[in-house]
Amino acid sequence: MQSAIHSGRRLLAEAKCLGLPETLRMQVQRIMRPDDANIVGNVHGGTILKMIEEAGCIIGTRHCNSQPGDRCVAALARVERTDFLHPMFIGEVAHVSAEITYTSKHSVEVQVNVLAENILTGAKKVTNKATLWYVPFSLQDVDKIVDVPPMEYSRPEHEDEGKKRYEAQKLERLETKERNGEVMTSVPLPDRHMKEAYTVGFSQSSLIHLVGPSDCTLLGFVHGGVTMKLMDEVAGIVAARHCKTNIVTASVDAINFHRKIKKGCVITVSGRMTFTSNKSMEIEVFVDSDPLVEAEKGKYRAVTAFFTFISLDKDNRPLAIPPLKLEGEEEQKRFEEGKTRYLQNKAKRLADKERHQ
Ligand SMILES: CC(C)(COP(=O)(O)OP(=O)(O)OC[C@H]1O[C@@H](n2cnc3c(N)ncnc32)[C@H](O)[C@@H]1OP(=O)(O)O)[C@@H](O)C(=O)NCCC(=O)NCCS
Repeated sequence: MQSAIHSGRRLLAEAKCLGLPETLRMQVQRIMRPDDANIVGNVHGGTILKMIEEAGCIIGTRHCNSQPGDRCVAALARVERTDFLHPMFIGEVAHVSAEITYTSKHSVEVQVNVLAENILTGAKKVTNKATLWYVPFSLQDVDKIVDVPPMEYSRPEHEDEGKKRYEAQKLERLETKERNGEVMTSVPLPDRHMKEAYTVGFSQSSLIHLVGPSDCTLLGFVHGGVTMKLMDEVAGIVAARHCKTNIVTASVDAINFHRKIKKGCVITVSGRMTFTSNKSMEIEVFVDSDPLVEAEKGKYRAVTAFFTFISLDKDNRPLAIPPLKLEGEEEQKRFEEGKTRYLQNKAKRLADKERHQ
């Protein structure tokens, strides 16, 4: 806990020292209210993801409009894997600081740090560090991607490091596109009450949502943060149905936003459990968009992602997760794939920890 408080102070100090122009960094603060949290007071992961994306969208759009030319709005294209390092509670103040760290010809990398401040004690802890990529769309022509004004780097090595991150995510995107193809596999929703407890079908859940103006950017397309909040909500319902305890988001794997979702579409957000370890559970979430007015365009899959949740006791200590009961080869296959992701992420977390010691 003490080291988290120190790293919180260090982050604030680092942001002040960077001396970046105002258009390249910003900070927003907001007190966490009961409607941001679950019934025991833990702020939802989805609330935090939405705040992170809002900050990214503001700073990305501001930067992309910093030169004469077409006015544009920055749309979320990708979020790198994000870990939730500490819980945040109702009454704490979230400090969300965003900074532009790299620009390519048509994309902007934004790094966002979130700190939770207890305003009674002054204690601060880092809850998230996220990296997002935005692509600017012209306000005149919503299908046109405009050029991003190049940023000035305070040191040449920052540009080189940014370029490496840009190349790495581009490669990863190509690989996952190849793996997933463009095929849309449906997520059958069984009658869960007929299902045995702890099976995939028992906890599988979905919600449908009509996309309204308040969900959308100036271009009339859904904000990435709104989508992520709905995804976290469904994943949370799946997790709670499986273990019937207080559950919280532990991490979200990298998400690519391949397709825009237009105002007036109906979206179906579905979640199913794919893997359980001793103290964590992985939930796969799908977002399918159904254009109501332009129905001839047909239904399409807009986003998919893997969320990891943990279950907490009343003192916020992780509880054991009831093992997932698998039915059939498909579920077994998804479980094995989930296990591989779990082991890879765990090894990476341990390596990061060692590097920072
Ligand atoms: C992002 C999007 C425009 C990419 O479309 P595309 O046909 O792959 O576009 P391009 O190949 O021309 O790429 C344009 C730029 O976007 C970048 N890009 C594309 N997909 C990306 C992703 N998933 N992550 C990061 N950057 C991405 C490319 O690198 C390129 O920049 P560069 O020229 O500087 O390298 C498209 O997938 C889209 O419209 N997504 C939806 C965005 C949205 O609505 N977000 C909110 C969803 S709820």
